[in-house]
Amino acid sequence: MATLLTACGGRNDVPALSPLAALGERIFSDRTLSGSGRMSCATCHDPRFAHGPPNALPVQVGGQFETEFGLRAAPSIRYLDRQPPFSLAPWHGGLNTDGRADTLAAQARHPLFDPREMDNGSADILARRLRASAYAPQFAALIGATGGDASATVTLIQGALQAYQSEDAGFHPYDSKFDQVQAGRDQFSPAEQRGAQAFRDPARGHCAACHPDTDPQGRPPLFTDAGYAALGVPRNAAIPANADPAHFDLGLCGPVRQDLARDAAACGLFRTPGLRNVGVKQRFFHNGSMGSLAQVLAFLNTRDTEPTRWYPVVDGALRPFDDLPARLQANITRRAPLDGRAAGSTPAMSARDLADIECFLLTLSDGHVAGTPPSPACRE
Ligand code: HEC
Ligand code: HEC
Repeated sequence: MATLLTACGGRNDVPALSPLAALGERIFSDRTLSGSGRMSCATCHDPRFAHGPPNALPVQVGGQFETEFGLRAAPSIRYLDRQPPFSLAPWHGGLNTDGRADTLAAQARHPLFDPREMDNGSADILARRLRASAYAPQFAALIGATGGDASATVTLIQGALQAYQSEDAGFHPYDSKFDQVQAGRDQFSPAEQRGAQAFRDPARGHCAACHPDTDPQGRPPLFTDAGYAALGVPRNAAIPANADPAHFDLGLCGPVRQDLARDAAACGLFRTPGLRNVGVKQRFFHNGSMGSLAQVLAFLNTRDTEPTRWYPVVDGALRPFDDLPARLQANITRRAPLDGRAAGSTPAMSARDLADIECFLLTLSDGHVAGTPPSPACRE
């Protein structure tokens, strides 16, 4: 197991990485550990973009020839160290939008071998690539006791990636404006303060019902209850897999995850993501169907009151919730603000609420320097 070593010399408040985590750091950005020789974890989880994608593509492109499009939008992978493992009744926790991995180590296996991502082909090939790396001696020192066959090598790679993501403070710095306001080191502007209230207000945003802004154990909140819901987000034609009208990404019930395929009530449900660093993202929701926070907020506000704004009209008939087959649409959430109010009726949030909540969400980005004012639109 990894142990935290105290830094000797230099900054004495930053713990040095354990040898396992230091190995994970090298692996995280090593592009030779891929079928194309050009892709690492950092390609899709770039530290300069809150460990999320550096571009506005709805899905990233990987594989041996960099021709294979992914099925889901690449997320920011910060603040996952407190994510509980997946559990049933009710569905809760787990990693990925369908919760199919319980630990960061188990999760790391998917991208290493996924033919749409790093596509390493086999454990033997990946082990060979690792032995050819510049840090092979670091690796040899750690593998010693475990024997060192290909499968032990892959297990060590997974463990190293988990140790790195858990130990390196860069994955959970808790230094956003929100954190600094909580600590009394900065103050919200009037717009940010109103946004925090509308976010929490059950009659307006009701956001905290699924994205809680407090933690039961008093730790800094992660803005997710780790639960699952079907919001009915629009289908994204920009995902190549969606060219097949019979293809549906049903989240918990498959097709990526397969163990809940027989449970129709699980279909269309995706894990509620944490909202830290949403201000750094360029595509939103599991299918990257939205391109700005303003658009996400408008959707949450008017999914039911202005459905023609979000869903196609075919031969004069509205096709609501077009990314979920009609027989499964009973799973779609009716929790406020997505409460099924009639088309044409007044939505839950005013234009001012929407603008204010966006200002509040922008306070959740890491790396805030206390005293820096928000953009002019978020000041008053
Ligand atoms: C080609 C782009 C790509 C590469 C390369 C990649 N990932 Fe990801 N990553 C994704 C996507 C897409 C998802 C979301 C998958 C899902 O929800 O099913 C994801 C999800 C994750 C998650 C879970 C996030 C969450 O919110 O639960 C972690 C952790 C993660 N990746 C770590 C890694 C590590 C470690 C590597 C390198 C071994 C890696 N990724 C390489 C695209 C990528
Ligand atoms: C019923 C629970 C629920 C409520 C209420 C809710 N959300 Fe969410 N939110 C989710 C789920 C589930 C997703 C992921 C949906 C998907 O990808 O299909 C999500 C996704 C998001 C995203 C996209 C994050 C990303 O990384 O792509 C943002 C931003 C967001 N919600 C903000 C809000 C705000 C602001 C409110 C209040 C106005 C709100 N949510 C209300 C459950 C909820």
